[in-house]
Amino acid sequence: MAPMNDLLLTRTENRVAIVTLNRPDVLNALSVELMDRLIEAMEGFDRDPSIRVMVLTGGDKVFAAGADIADMAQASVVDMMQRNNLARWLRIKAIRKPIIAAVSGYCLGGGCELAMHCDIIIAAESAKFGQPEINIGVMPGAGGTQRLTRAIGKFKAMEVILNGRFLSAQEAFDAGLVTRVVTKEQCLAEAVRLAEQIAQRPPVALQLAKEAVLAADEMSLSAGLEYERKLFYSLFSTDDQKEGMKAFLEKRKATFQGR
Ligand code: CAA
Repeated sequence: MAPMNDLLLTRTENRVAIVTLNRPDVLNALSVELMDRLIEAMEGFDRDPSIRVMVLTGGDKVFAAGADIADMAQASVVDMMQRNNLARWLRIKAIRKPIIAAVSGYCLGGGCELAMHCDIIIAAESAKFGQPEINIGVMPGAGGTQRLTRAIGKFKAMEVILNGRFLSAQEAFDAGLVTRVVTKEQCLAEAVRLAEQIAQRPPVALQLAKEAVLAADEMSLSAGLEYERKLFYSLFSTDDQKEGMKAFLEKRKATFQGR
C-alpha cells in the first residue's frame, strides 16, 4: 500500500489491481498530476502479466467531482490547446484489461467520464452521476457528450448535459449507465468480487472480447460482425482455447495460462 498522503493508492490481490483516487479534500478533483499518476499506474498494470483485471475507485465518499477547476480557471484557449491535457485520456481508452469502476458519492464531469472509460460500473446507492460543466461555463471535454449519449440515449443525455442534472444510482442503472447498484458498504467489495471472477477467465479472450465490445461504438454492424469473427477465429491459436474446450469435454475446471 502506498503512503496515505499519496494522490493515488494501489494494491493488488488475487490477480486484481485496486486503484484508489486519493484527493478527498477536493472530492478527488482530477488534477493533471493525479491523471498522470493514474494513467501510469493503469498502464503498468496493463503490462503486468500477474494482473488480469483492474478496479478503480475513489473510496466510499466520492468517486471524483471532475477535472480540477482551479487548474484551468484562468486558462486561455491557447493555454488549453498547448497543454492538451485531454489528449492523455486516449491512453486510458487504450488499456486492454477489463476495468471495473466502484462508484460511491459524486461522479461528476471528468469523474463521470472516467467511470465511462471503465468497462463495468458498480454503483453505491449514494452515487450521483452528472456532467455539470454547463454550470461553470463549459461543456464535457473528455468524452461525456459521446459516451453518455451512447450509454443512456440522446434525450436523457441532453437533460444531464444541458441542465447539469445529476442522476441517482437507481436512475443511472435504469438508464443503462450502471451495471449494478449495491449499498455503500458493499460497493468496493462487490467490484473486487466481480473482478476476481473475471480474473479467472482466459486473459487473451478477455482482452479481445473487450476490444470487440468497444468496437461496437466505432464500427458499422457489418464491419463489427466481421471484426468479431476474425477475433473469434484468432483465439484458436491460443493454448487457453485448447485447454478450455478440453476441460469442458473432460468435465473439469479449466486452468488458463494467458497463452
Ligand atoms: N475541482 C476543484 N476543486 C473541487 C472540485 C473540482 N472539480 N469539486 C470540488 N472541489 C473542492 C471545492 O472547491 C471544495 O474545496 P474547499 O474545501 O477548499 O473550498 C471541496 O472540494 C469540497 O467541495 P464543496 O465545498 O463544493 O462540497 P459540496 O458538498 O458543497 O458540493 C459538489 C459538492 C456538488 C460536487 C461541488 O463541489 C461541485 O459542484 N463541484 C464541481 C463539479 C463540476 O463542476 N465538475 C466538472 C468539472 S470540469 C470537467 O470535469 C471538464 C471535463 O470534462 C474534463
